[in-house]
Amino acid sequence: MGRVSAMDKKHNATMIREKTRFAKPELRSKNHAQILDPFHPKAYISSLILPLALKLAEASSARADRIYFAMEKFLFFLAFILYGYPPKGKKGNSMSETVRLIIEGKEYELPVIIGSEGEKAFDITALRRKTGYITYDPGFGNTGSCASAITFMDGEKGILRYRGIPIEDLAENATFIETAFLLINGHLPSLSELNQTRVLLNDSSMLHESMQVFFQNFPQASHPMGILSAMIMALRSFYPDMGTEEDIHTHFLYLISKVRTMAAMSYRMSRGEKVVYPRHDLSYCANFLNMMFDSPVHPYIVDEDLVKAMNVFLILHADHEQNCSTAAVRLVGSSRAPLYASIAAGVSALWGPLHGGANQAVIEMLEKIHKDGATIDEVIRRAKDRNDPFRLMGFGHRIYKTYDPRAKIIKKMCDKVLGKLKIEDPLLDIAKRLEEVALTDAYFIDHNLYPNVDFYSGIVLRAMRIPTNMFTVMFAIGRLPGWIAQWKESMEDPSRRISRPRQIYTGLTESAWVPMDQR
Ligand code: CMC
Repeated sequence: MGRVSAMDKKHNATMIREKTRFAKPELRSKNHAQILDPFHPKAYISSLILPLALKLAEASSARADRIYFAMEKFLFFLAFILYGYPPKGKKGNSMSETVRLIIEGKEYELPVIIGSEGEKAFDITALRRKTGYITYDPGFGNTGSCASAITFMDGEKGILRYRGIPIEDLAENATFIETAFLLINGHLPSLSELNQTRVLLNDSSMLHESMQVFFQNFPQASHPMGILSAMIMALRSFYPDMGTEEDIHTHFLYLISKVRTMAAMSYRMSRGEKVVYPRHDLSYCANFLNMMFDSPVHPYIVDEDLVKAMNVFLILHADHEQNCSTAAVRLVGSSRAPLYASIAAGVSALWGPLHGGANQAVIEMLEKIHKDGATIDEVIRRAKDRNDPFRLMGFGHRIYKTYDPRAKIIKKMCDKVLGKLKIEDPLLDIAKRLEEVALTDAYFIDHNLYPNVDFYSGIVLRAMRIPTNMFTVMFAIGRLPGWIAQWKESMEDPSRRISRPRQIYTGLTESAWVPMDQR
């Protein structure tokens, strides 16, 4: 943080603002409905302390954390004296509303938590202690694992917002780096913050030369996602002087910058080609495309439309609340494993074809349909057949029960990019015909199956000449700021605990040991 002091001061001030907000008594407690009152003494105390803390934080970034901790302790102490309990973590607004649960004739009251967009949950944190029961929810379809202020999704209405800003507005107006800043810091960057971020991204874009040797030793057929996960784990060892864990804001930018370089480098090396180094005069996305495709015999000419398309692609993938890979990042981080280990876990989780790997699976599916000359009806019939493991890749979503808002944007982008490059891709025609038939088919309607972001994204990536086995790596570059923001939020949550689900044991009850000669 010491390198860009103005930005750090602002960042620390934001952190203090966020942390103080988390510590505000009105954001907590089930049976204290009165604390929603802004004139309540506890809210009043924090509103008096907050401006003072911000002033001090802006005056000295180095002292900011100490000031926050002193302030937080003071506030907790005051609340404890006045009200007999310390305010805990941010959980969304609590209400006097409760739900009643009757177990074996005994009634229990569970507090209700309401998010800022009105979603309701009942708080079961005391369930087992009070009732002896746990909940059973394979796949966590009904489980809120955390409270988060980063991304809002409404799957029924097809809404996606980062820090309150609709995805459509971000795709239209923002760059990926602005979006990353927004996700991580909670606000859009000012011009000076953006410039400072660019300087840091540029300064950290190179990779240790010995990392190339590491790359070279992966067997030829290694999947780039496996390589990326391993390389992220290795980063900390290659950069032991990268700063302390307290310098966490710098680590975030290091990761965002270096992951892009690593992705391009792995592609070049997989082709036995010379590595292209990052350039200081190119933007984040232009730099990536240049590192991928520049060659001494065919210099890469940056096409601003492709740069825009890549920005949009990365923005659409930048966060998606508690999906499989983000949940993995939070889960690994909850054991206090380092940031790098948590992000590498996210990459591994993303790899699967039901998650990020779907973009590769969609293109492979479309290519197969094209090659085999299968009819659309045949494909749809197979997707509906319960006895056939085939699924229509790029269709369906755990949360969206309507058209994925990201898919709408990427579909338009697809037409634009292919039109601009004058590419006629038969796979796009197949995809559009598949969509048309699926959207009018009773099975797909009844199951709420619509195209998701992966259905058209592969066609845009193909048009950019990104090889199919790199598609999920592109998703990972996009999702990185989301993982970082979620990891940061979980680390700053004062009510954090190690993630440790329970189970319903279904194995043998106590059984006798059988000596070897009797087995
Ligand atoms: N094709 C055919 N049937 C499907 C599909 C599909 N793509 N997706 C779900 N179904 C059916 C499924 O067979 C089941 O039917 P039934 O109730 O009759 O047994 C029902 O819909 C519910 O499926 P599910 O697997 O229980 O739903 P889920 O919420 O657990 O899974 C999903 C969501 C995305 C994993 C799933 O829809 C799927 O496998 N889609 C294809 C893979 C894909 O495109 N993944 C990318 C998701 S978007 C990128 C990201 O954010 O990761």
